[in-house]
Amino acid sequence: MHIKVEKAKIDQKQTSLLVIGIFENDQDFPHSKDLDPAVSSAIKESLESKEFRGSFGTSMLIPTFGKGPMKRILLMGLGKKDKFTDDSARVIAGKVALKAKDLRAKEFSILPFSSPDEGLVEAIAEGVCLSLYSFDKYKATASEDNKDYAGIVEVTILVNSDPAQTQPVAERAAAVCEAVNYARDLANLPPNDCPPSHLASAALSLASEYGMKARVVERYEMESMGMGGIVAVGKGSNSPPKLIILEYNGGGEQKPYLLVGKAVTFDTGGISIKPGEKMDEMKFDKCGGCTVLATMKAIAALKVPANVVGIVPSVENMPSGTSYRPGDIIRMYNGKTVEILNTDAEGRMILADALSYGIATYGPKAVIDLATLTGAAVIALGANVAAVVGTNKHLVDRLKKASEKTGEKMWELPLFDEFHEQIKSTFADIRNIGGRPGGAITAAAFLSNFADGAPWAHIDIAGTAWTQEGTFERSYNPKGATGFGVRTLVKLISEDAAK
Ligand code: BES
Ligand code: MG
Ligand code: ZN
Repeated sequence: MHIKVEKAKIDQKQTSLLVIGIFENDQDFPHSKDLDPAVSSAIKESLESKEFRGSFGTSMLIPTFGKGPMKRILLMGLGKKDKFTDDSARVIAGKVALKAKDLRAKEFSILPFSSPDEGLVEAIAEGVCLSLYSFDKYKATASEDNKDYAGIVEVTILVNSDPAQTQPVAERAAAVCEAVNYARDLANLPPNDCPPSHLASAALSLASEYGMKARVVERYEMESMGMGGIVAVGKGSNSPPKLIILEYNGGGEQKPYLLVGKAVTFDTGGISIKPGEKMDEMKFDKCGGCTVLATMKAIAALKVPANVVGIVPSVENMPSGTSYRPGDIIRMYNGKTVEILNTDAEGRMILADALSYGIATYGPKAVIDLATLTGAAVIALGANVAAVVGTNKHLVDRLKKASEKTGEKMWELPLFDEFHEQIKSTFADIRNIGGRPGGAITAAAFLSNFADGAPWAHIDIAGTAWTQEGTFERSYNPKGATGFGVRTLVKLISEDAAK
């Protein structure tokens, strides 16, 4: 699918579908004078009679019967003007694309909804690319719907300003969304087809496609390197753990960003086994790692002038005769000892080794980890907002700012000293659970023990990584993995690199 930005000349634009946004209770609309008078007055009549009110997300299809170069017009309700944001544009563009798919259109054109600035073009491009994603690898029916982007090959955004300014914005957005959809493709894989080795080979393919350095650390190496956390959690499964490392070098001698992502390909809880209800959703426990791999893909595709290292510890958390147990004391990569009190708190064990190894090896300028780490994060903030906890205010603020632009909502939770009390252990340096109160924060407090020496922020994506109970419907997030975090991380890193 190609996204094109053109100067709006709608009296000349040959298109099967022209999309016009209408704010709530507006009687007129931009470009009304450029339409055939009969078509234009038919639209105005439906606005004046309130047949079409412009309520958010509503739409009305108007055939033009050959009067004009567009075959039909889609009026799209934008809701209240003062409530309209870039994310509204993303949602609306997603709805438009799904409508075009229903109409089996191969192409459509869309007029921006307010003054066409960069953010708006970006949001429209994103809404289109993200909403047309579908995961149908396992479906037999080969229909139109199974085609890439539902068979839509071209989308034109018609702007009033110079298109040369915004064409690159649209192209970058499309490349980033391709990476988001890559994250979704990996994360949606069922656990029987996605052991840690599968993620490792996906990373190796990415590396050779984009000329990145890649390394997969095997279990025996992790043992000799002292990565007790990853080895312990990985022990219970017949699919061995992998530590995946990707290095993108686009920034010369600069210190790198370090991105770390939890990739538990399936989380049964281990010996502290989870109840059966919704356990299938624990195939999404690899989403943090998938986001890191996809972010590396986007950064490399865009040739961002920065250095970025992505580390993805991947394991399957299974109960068996070889599993780690409650009561075990594990020596971690950085030498600290951890008393296991619940084998279901496995994510922090694998992230800990990856964090301390990454910081010691690469001396990063900033570290961000992403993980479907705690149910407590979902209890605290719901299924539409990720929790951010960090040791560096500047980094956390930049993350929040980037996330406001991408619509990937994040909210900070405090890492007060008191939370460290909850993870003190009788028999080891720390323990791997802190009890129910403040569970998302004690998990972060645990991680902070392994993030010394670099500005660090942790994003708990347990609620936002896939559509689940409590997820708001959003046109651009189809059922399943969302690829949450890719767009925000790419924005943060590329904005910093452009400085
Ligand atoms: N992967 C889960 C967290 C999770 C649970 C994410 C539900 C999304 C939905 C994680 O490994 C886990 O099991 N965490 C435990 C920690 C507890 C034992 C301290 C949890 O949240 O219950
Ligand atoms: Mg768990
Ligand atoms: Zn988990």
